[in-house]
Amino acid sequence: MNTIGIIGAGQIGRAFATALAAKGIPAVIANSRGPETLSALVAEMGPTIRAGTRDQAAAQDIVLVAVNWSKLPAALAGLPDWAGRVVVDANNPIEAPLFKPIPLGNRSSSEVVAGLVPEARVVKAFNHLQAHLISSDPAGDGGKRVLFYSGDDADAKAQVGTLIDQLGFFGIDLGPLAIGSRLVQFPGGPLPALNLVKIG
Ligand SMILES: NC(=O)c1ccc[n+]([C@@H]2O[C@H](COP(=O)([O-])OP(=O)(O)OC[C@H]3O[C@@H](n4cnc5c(N)ncnc54)[C@H](OP(=O)(O)O)[C@@H]3O)[C@@H](O)[C@H]2O)c1
Repeated sequence: MNTIGIIGAGQIGRAFATALAAKGIPAVIANSRGPETLSALVAEMGPTIRAGTRDQAAAQDIVLVAVNWSKLPAALAGLPDWAGRVVVDANNPIEAPLFKPIPLGNRSSSEVVAGLVPEARVVKAFNHLQAHLISSDPAGDGGKRVLFYSGDDADAKAQVGTLIDQLGFFGIDLGPLAIGSRLVQFPGGPLPALNLVKIG
């Protein structure tokens, strides 16, 4: 399995890295403060997860982005051309501590994120559950925990669907970004925070 990039090492970035580590999938994880600030975290996670720079994380074929909404422009600025690499958008347009929804006009949050990563193939995923439901055993509730994903590029979506499957979740393809990302968007969509389990 190719190394996965992770930009953002907070609750969601760590939860995703934990899920990858559980399956022995390699990843490079980055925050805003540099890899040395992540050495304790990656030591806990085991040998397949390493700390890197934002550029190193962004250079991977699949890059999950999980950054506070207002910090996304800075986190994604000045990176080399995305050149068709896959960006997994795990972000929601709301922020602690006020949890006040951020106005987006007619765009979904993923359409806004897509505008920050030109030439990337964006797949929305890993944004609709709380972090502990991503890091904990996806079979822990008696079936396979459901993860939704959506995007406009069939191959990119297939890659993310395969990864979701490898992590032990049950992936459900919600169609194109304009539809799927609105269904899982928090706040506003009907699906966030539902911990659904596929039985059998
Ligand atoms: N928490 C949840 O349960 C949850 C669930 C679903 C979706 N989400 C969404 O996921 C995203 C991340 O949420 P979170 O709870 O994981 O946030 P968080 O715990 O506050 O972590 C945010 C991460 O972003 C990093 N970051 C900020 N600016 C950066 C930059 N310029 N370059 C690289 N990294 C940067 C921070 O690094 P530093 O610490 O070095 O600043 C930190 O590691 C948000 O959009 C949120 O809405 C969260």
